[in-house]
Amino acid sequence: MSNNERSIDGAVNAKFILRHFKMKLLLSYYYFQVLTREDIKSSSLPYVEQSDTEWSRALPYNSLPGPSRLRLIKEVLPGGKYCNVNMMELNRLLRETYGDIYLVKGLFGREDTVFTYNPHDFEIMFRNEGIWPHRVGLQTFNYYRKKKRPEIFHGIGGLVSEQGKTWGDIRSKVNPIMMKSQTIRENLPQIDVIAQEFTKRLESMRVIGDNLIKCNFLEEVQKWAFESISFIALNKRMGLFGDNPDRKALSLAENMSLFFQMSYEFDVKPSVWPYVQTRAFKEFLTVYDNITDITLSFIEQEMSELQRRGIQEAKSVLEKLLKIDKHIALVMVMDMLMAGIDTVGEYIFIFTYHTSKDL
Ligand code: HEM
Repeated sequence: MSNNERSIDGAVNAKFILRHFKMKLLLSYYYFQVLTREDIKSSSLPYVEQSDTEWSRALPYNSLPGPSRLRLIKEVLPGGKYCNVNMMELNRLLRETYGDIYLVKGLFGREDTVFTYNPHDFEIMFRNEGIWPHRVGLQTFNYYRKKKRPEIFHGIGGLVSEQGKTWGDIRSKVNPIMMKSQTIRENLPQIDVIAQEFTKRLESMRVIGDNLIKCNFLEEVQKWAFESISFIALNKRMGLFGDNPDRKALSLAENMSLFFQMSYEFDVKPSVWPYVQTRAFKEFLTVYDNITDITLSFIEQEMSELQRRGIQEAKSVLEKLLKIDKHIALVMVMDMLMAGIDTVGEYIFIFTYHTSKDL
């Protein structure tokens, strides 16, 4: 069977993915049914053995194409194909070589990762992974929060890195606030003001008589994302569009950018950091420290402001979460600031680029 045939066979792919994601040992000899949401809800067992034709054609996990561990190490070292490439380039090269579904085996304590480019697989995976999905997280993130700074995080990794029931418990606590449309409605007027300030700022940077804007556009959209998210999370304006932006906010943005660059080196490419902490890795830990300390100082500032104001109706996400659980509030707000800025910034940057090209 060719790679391509494998990739369009949802059953094969889903089995591979499930094995990786959930039950590494148990799954080896079983085939699993595609469950509906109702099935999953009504069953304490997320997976059921079955003899469906599609599943009966499922191939063993180990027959997934992909580089061997040795090849992977060789290719990321100087002179190798994957040495000086960025993440997109790395994925493109792997896809060219191995097809639309491939396995990158875990190295140095990291889990295996299955990459699939077939949306049909996504449905199968989501339907089969049960109520507690297992997402490949950032290993350094977990290490930093659980081992390096336990005094801050109190054993809570946050939504991005927790798995299983622990993840489910945090979601149950934050969902009533984070997923409530009322929270969005309450914030909309100010989010609109921020968006208008942003477009005015872009207007002011427009080159007269030309259709160009003279600025670092990605940096500008990141400022807009930051200003919007910090308002929702902390009910605070950072003043990033003005001449006198909050210095801590600027430093957080810089450190966030470093974080994403360095995370690729230590969380995506094979790295020996779990055994040997190089100077570069220690620098990465300093970036984590900077991000933690700055976000923490914003949160503490807001918390003492709240105490000063006394009990009143909660406005920011932080205020609302504080009423439920102080430690979770802290980690959730930190995650919002960390997860929201670069994602939104990059997305708008790429979206604007493509729409402007296609107009
Ligand atoms: C265009 C913008 C964004 C993109 C493309 C994006 C993408 C993603 C992806 C792919 C995941 C992983 C989902 C999974 O594991 O199944 C994720 C999770 C997450 N994102 Fe975003 N995100 C964006 C914006 C944001 C914003 C604005 C925030 C916060 C204000 C945020 C906070 C989070 C959090 C907390 C999680 C973990 C959720 C959980 O596992 O329960 N993201 N995001």
